[in-house]
Amino acid sequence: MQIFSHDDVDAFNGAYPENMCAWDDYCRAADRVTVVEHPILADVIRVLRDRRTLPAKFRRYTRTACQALLWEATRTLPLSRERTPSVHGLRDNPLLTPTQKLTSDSVDWAVILRAGDAFKDPALRLLPKSRVATYGIKRNDETLEPELYKRSLPPEIVGREVCIVDPMFATGGSALYVVSDLKHEGVKRITLVCIFASAPGILRLKAAHPDVRIVTAALDPILNARGYIVPGCGDFGDRYNGTESIEEDVLAA
Ligand code: PRP
Ligand code: URA
Repeated sequence: MQIFSHDDVDAFNGAYPENMCAWDDYCRAADRVTVVEHPILADVIRVLRDRRTLPAKFRRYTRTACQALLWEATRTLPLSRERTPSVHGLRDNPLLTPTQKLTSDSVDWAVILRAGDAFKDPALRLLPKSRVATYGIKRNDETLEPELYKRSLPPEIVGREVCIVDPMFATGGSALYVVSDLKHEGVKRITLVCIFASAPGILRLKAAHPDVRIVTAALDPILNARGYIVPGCGDFGDRYNGTESIEEDVLAA
């Protein structure tokens, strides 16, 4: 289960007293958040959390997580009814050939670099006509504030629906920056899609933007003093790109 129980959070409170997320706060964070529950996804999360998972495997499992989350995030896409000629030639009978068609690829993606890049290929495979907004954001290690180094938006984004994709939602600073910017550009509906979310970050997002839909694979109860999600998976960008050194016992295993 990627939603924690009362006992789990109690145990965490004992381990990390200075960063505890009280049970009531955890429940408030979980309210109206879609935590995708599927046994395959739960197993993927186990592998991503495991410090022994090396980059090649980490990337493979990330791809599966992204695919599962993107299916859920696009659940509300509009459909229209169609009559499709079937192989049995019963095309004039709507009862026998009822089909539905996506009316358009009406979603755009907002990718937060670096980590969000993992979502890009699965997202464009799912909806080939969709477009990609790119936000290069680096969190300042000292202040934990987001610092923008790149921004590019597709034209005519006013009134569109946008899914923000970033595997890690920790303090929420990076995603909140993007939500504010997209709203300023006139975006109509926003969904945040992440693999790991922290409960304190989600409470912050809900307070500032209660209209944003949230889809995640795991809702974790702790944000540590360095702004990392606990248990989380560590530094996603580094693990995905292979830019951190691997500890000797892991290499030796
Ligand atoms: C990480 C992560 C998120 C952000 C989440 O990026 O990929 O974008 O931090 O943290 P927040 O919710 O507290 O803003 P990082 O700044 O480490 O950059 P990177 O992806 O390039 O490694
Ligand atoms: N960024 C990460 O990669 N991991 C965290 O836990 C928080 C921010």
